[in-house]
Order: sequence, then structure tokens, then C-alpha cells
Amino acid sequence: MLKQLPTLETKRLRLRKLCMQDAVDMYEYASDPEIANLGLWLPFHSIEDSLKDLTEVIEGYDKGEIFAWAIELKNANKMIGRIGLGDYSLKNARAELGYASNRRYWGKGLMTEAVKQIIDFSFINLAMNRIEAVCLPENVASIRVLEKVGMQFEGVKREYTFVRGKFDDLNLYSILKREWQEAKTNFANKTTPY
Ligand SMILES: CC(C)(COP(=O)(O)OP(=O)(O)OC[C@H]1O[C@@H](n2cnc3c(N)ncnc32)[C@H](O)[C@@H]1OP(=O)(O)O)[C@@H](O)C(=O)NCCC(=O)NCCS
Repeated sequence: MLKQLPTLETKRLRLRKLCMQDAVDMYEYASDPEIANLGLWLPFHSIEDSLKDLTEVIEGYDKGEIFAWAIELKNANKMIGRIGLGDYSLKNARAELGYASNRRYWGKGLMTEAVKQIIDFSFINLAMNRIEAVCLPENVASIRVLEKVGMQFEGVKREYTFVRGKFDDLNLYSILKREWQEAKTNFANKTTPY
């Protein structure tokens, strides 16, 4: 099943497998210090960093180990970011969502659109029961995205990460399948904006 990672479509986006041709577009956002800082990775210094990352992702696809999609703008065929599920446990039917995008495309609802699609895919096609996400407490845009898709704040993982040269707290959010189903039902009955 994992080897068959499908292309998913939303109104404005195509979520597809990453490929080596994404190196330049990936470098454009992954080298941005603010994005790297909020996304908890070290900024890329050259296209070689993209190529290395993409090689690992593609090897992961071949082994059936990775759920990672390029976020591509349909009307421009431009790769603007990435979204994926990590730290998954099939036994416990849970996974952790992660994402980042090029700042030129922020504030247009695009990541919210992508996240909703991956949550739908996770519950419908991957039989997940719980999708969680973590972010820095100061990452207000990410927190807003998670709230907009119906995730609930669970608490703070104290001093959970050391990526930025110091221990940082992370906020933990999650949505359960039954909550997602309820939101879908309410949307069908026009009582919530999911
Ligand atoms: C987080 C991120 C993916 C959001 O992408 P995006 O396409 O701009 O997201 P959306 O447009 O769907 O939603 C962003 C929301 O945050 C809000 N927002 C953005 N900056 C904000 C700020 N400084 N204060 C309050 N709200 C803010 C936007 O107004 C929008 O909410 P709204 O629709 O209610 O107006 C993007 O900022 C990013 O790539 N950040 C760096 C990497 C990262 O943080 N990854 C997540 C790590 S867990």
C-alpha cells in the first residue's frame, strides 16, 4: 500500500510524490531561515541539500516507508512545499503530520487545503484513528492551520526538541477519526465550516 502513494487533488493543489526535479523549488523554501526555524530543520545551504533530501525520500518510497507529498500549484505547475505523515504506527493507527511551504504562497489558505486533504486520506484510505501535529508555541500560522482543520490542543511537550541549539517546548495537537467524522456530518448538515 505504501508503495502506491497516490496523487491527491484539491481545488487548487496537486499533492504528488516528490521527485529529483523538485530540487530547485525545494531549495527556494528550505533555505529560508525563518521557514527552517519554524519548521525545525537547519536551513539548506545549496541545491545539494535538496538533492540529498530528495534521494532519501525517493529511496523511502521504493522501500514503502514514507508518506511524503510535494505540494504543487495546479495552475502554475509550481512545487511550493511539502506535506507528509511521519512517526506512524500502523498497529496503533496513528501518525504525525508535518508541512512547510514557500513564503510567497502564505496566507491564501493553501496549507489548510492541503492538510484537510491529507487528514481525509489518512482516515479514509490509511485507516488511521489519530493524526497529531507538533509546532513551536510561537508558530501562530501553524497553530491557526491546525485549529482550522479541527485539531485540538492537547498540551505542551516540555523541552522536547534540540534542533535550534537549545531545548524547545512543542505544542501538541490532534484530531481523532470520530471527531473528523462528526465534523463532516455537521458540515453536511451545514452546522460547521469544515
Ligand atoms: C505554517 C504554514 C505552513 C502556513 O501556510 P499557509 O499556506 O500560509 O496557511 P493558511 O493560509 O492555510 O493559514 C494560515 C493561517 O494563519 C494565520 N496567520 C498567519 N500569520 C499569522 C500571525 N502572525 N498571527 C496570527 N495569525 C496568522 C493566517 O491569517 C491564516 O489564518 P486565517 O485563514 O484564519 O486568516 C507556513 O507559514 C509555513 O510554511 N511555515 C514554516 C514551516 C512551519 O511552520 N511548518 C509547520 C511546523 S509544525
